[in-house]
Amino acid sequence: MSDNFYVEPLFSNFLASEILDIDDDKITKYIKTVEPGIPLDLNQPEIHEVVDHVHNLIPRFMKLYGLGSKAKPRITTCWANRSNAAEPLKPHLHGTHWISVVYYPEADEESPDLILKNPITNVMEYAVPYQYHEYATWYNSGRIKVSPKKGLMIAFPAWLEHWVDPECPSTSNRYSLALNITLNHISDQYIEDIYHPNNKLAEMYGIVNTLRDESPYK
Ligand SMILES: [Fe+2]
Repeated sequence: MSDNFYVEPLFSNFLASEILDIDDDKITKYIKTVEPGIPLDLNQPEIHEVVDHVHNLIPRFMKLYGLGSKAKPRITTCWANRSNAAEPLKPHLHGTHWISVVYYPEADEESPDLILKNPITNVMEYAVPYQYHEYATWYNSGRIKVSPKKGLMIAFPAWLEHWVDPECPSTSNRYSLALNITLNHISDQYIEDIYHPNNKLAEMYGIVNTLRDESPYK
């Protein structure tokens, strides 16, 4: 093969991760008092360390995407999840937002993995079935797993479909905070009316999903 042959990744997504040294117990205690999925006040003192940290990361994310000051990224939504929440976290994405962040103030070995799906998986798996793979590369991976750890913060583009491994033992101590960073063209009113984590549309989807779960043809 010619020495001039050169291969580089094309059209990338990203996964950022960091272990934060903050008061996790305070956050976990607070999460236990709130309903999963209900929007939290970003000024709530118990979560301000996470919110501040994410806010301070925004310039780094802007650099990744070559964004100028007109983009005005801001944290728009924040909610809590816990492993014993009534509904398992089914595949979804955070449409309209730019970057999604998850922080785990509490997690253990039993905690289920977060799965992130490569957006081209549906077409790629048809052309390159995983049964042919002998080892994983950046080019053949359809999904990646993130194992929650106490203090772990991750961030990824909000358009990546993700879910929690359904094989999750319900006894695991897994608490998380989710946040979205959003750009200027998406108004707070739009998020309030259309993309609320717990709005009526989400309820409607929940009903449709339940109906589909009951279908023998799904
Ligand atoms: Fe999510």
